Amino acid sequence: MDYTPSADIDLQNIPRHIAIIMDGNGRWAKARHMPRLYGHGNGYRAIRPVVEACCELNVSVLSLYAFSSENWKRSQHEVSGLMALLRTALKQQYKYMKEYGIRFTVSGRAEEIAEPYRTIMQDAIDYTADCSKLTLNLCFNYGGRNEIADAARTLAEKCLSGELKPEDIDEGALCGAMYHPEFPDPELLIRTGGEMRLSNFLLWEAAYSELVCTSVLWPDFSPQVLEDCIRQYQKRTRKFGDAK
Ligand code: FPP
Repeated sequence: MDYTPSADIDLQNIPRHIAIIMDGNGRWAKARHMPRLYGHGNGYRAIRPVVEACCELNVSVLSLYAFSSENWKRSQHEVSGLMALLRTALKQQYKYMKEYGIRFTVSGRAEEIAEPYRTIMQDAIDYTADCSKLTLNLCFNYGGRNEIADAARTLAEKCLSGELKPEDIDEGALCGAMYHPEFPDPELLIRTGGEMRLSNFLLWEAAYSELVCTSVLWPDFSPQVLEDCIRQYQKRTRKFGDAK
């Protein structure tokens, strides 16, 4: 790993969980008169330096929005290209992840992912399960509304089985039924590509996230741009509804 944090980054105030909406691959490719999948391929190549920077910064969880529950609407060509990229990425990186102590997890409806992609994802999850330096949480076939609906269904089933009473359903119960209740909520949510919206990402967990939107297109993202986002985060006063 050849990243060293810049001296002005406050290492005592690093977000434990950083979540990123990796937007702008299509525009990046278009600007080069190349097909959209060329942009996604270069978007994939942008990930590893950011993962390495997060390791050096002692971030615990990095959530990356790679495929939303709405992305199925894209052309068959683009969807199958993204699935193929997932397979290539995991086959290329699973040993690297284990070597560097990176635990791989997925948020999303895995049951809707076709084989062999689902098994490849599960294999990477199992292979890195005991890693603890950084958790790389790939949000794949992920939708924030789906996650909340799935949590509500889990709790409803527990009520039907008598394990839970409706009056026990509160914020804590819902938190515990999310895909990864063990993760802290993301303190910092970054969106690249210049748009300023959540696009159904981590709707529950991002309730108090600091949002940083950058016009940098995802394939151009780098540890330096990550540092710029962290600098913005470090200037914010987090109030959580209080009157500080
Ligand atoms: C949004 O940009 C990006 C995506 C829907 C895919 C993100 C995927 C990667 C960064 C590659 C890594 C993926 C895997 C599977 C390992 P966009 O295409 O909507 O960009 P645009 O707004 O410029 O069209």
